[in-house]
Amino acid sequence: MERLDKILAKSGYGTRKEVKQLIRAGRVELAGQVVTDPGLKISAPDVDNILLDGLKPQIHSSLIFMLNKPGGFITALSDARHDTIAEFIPPQWQNKGLVPVGRLDKDTEGLLLLTNDGQLSHRICSPKWEIEKEYHLIVQGRPFDQQDVEKFANGFKTRDGTEFRPSKLELIDGFEAYLTVFEGQYHQVKRMAKSTGREIKYLRRIRIADLELDPDLSLGELRMLTDEERENLYSACDLKDK
Ligand code: URA
Repeated sequence: MERLDKILAKSGYGTRKEVKQLIRAGRVELAGQVVTDPGLKISAPDVDNILLDGLKPQIHSSLIFMLNKPGGFITALSDARHDTIAEFIPPQWQNKGLVPVGRLDKDTEGLLLLTNDGQLSHRICSPKWEIEKEYHLIVQGRPFDQQDVEKFANGFKTRDGTEFRPSKLELIDGFEAYLTVFEGQYHQVKRMAKSTGREIKYLRRIRIADLELDPDLSLGELRMLTDEERENLYSACDLKDK
């Protein structure tokens, strides 16, 4: 049994105070009856019968969002010198313990997950779980060719001794490609490109596991994952949705 206001606040429908207000305002129903007591204790099966403004809220004990990160912002929640992705988190989602899952460089765009589930975040980033991350990239320098596709597919070691595991390079043309990696080393894509004699001109992450960047999200926009997206992500990480 858990308090109604706590259940809704934890799922991101406002601060405890805001949630209390919306319950008192009669916006919440339980099994067809308006509930105005924020402290009402709800049993686990009854959680499915909650309606907020006539709609079924997404009740989970973890929060997961996808952000379409624009360039020019660092992947951090505060920084004295740089703009951070914190400014894309609307007020009602702040102070919910959301942290970015791994890092995209300042100039990299695209899919960045934010969650308050540390175990999920760890598994997405850990090479042990081999979670796919797919990037769209444009290089300058020498064009890519079939030899590069094979080199990436076999994995390779750089002169400084760094080892990159096998990855999948799909050429769009010589300068533009999709690259899927199964680990998340620091500046990985840029270093992979550099060690084969190219500079990355543009980099955007477009997928993590089965989760694709929503094409309807413009740069700087964020949305909660759907129930189906959550389930797929948890199952890719061999975890149960919470
Ligand atoms: N690899 C990079 O080099 N940079 C990123 O931002 C992500 C992957």
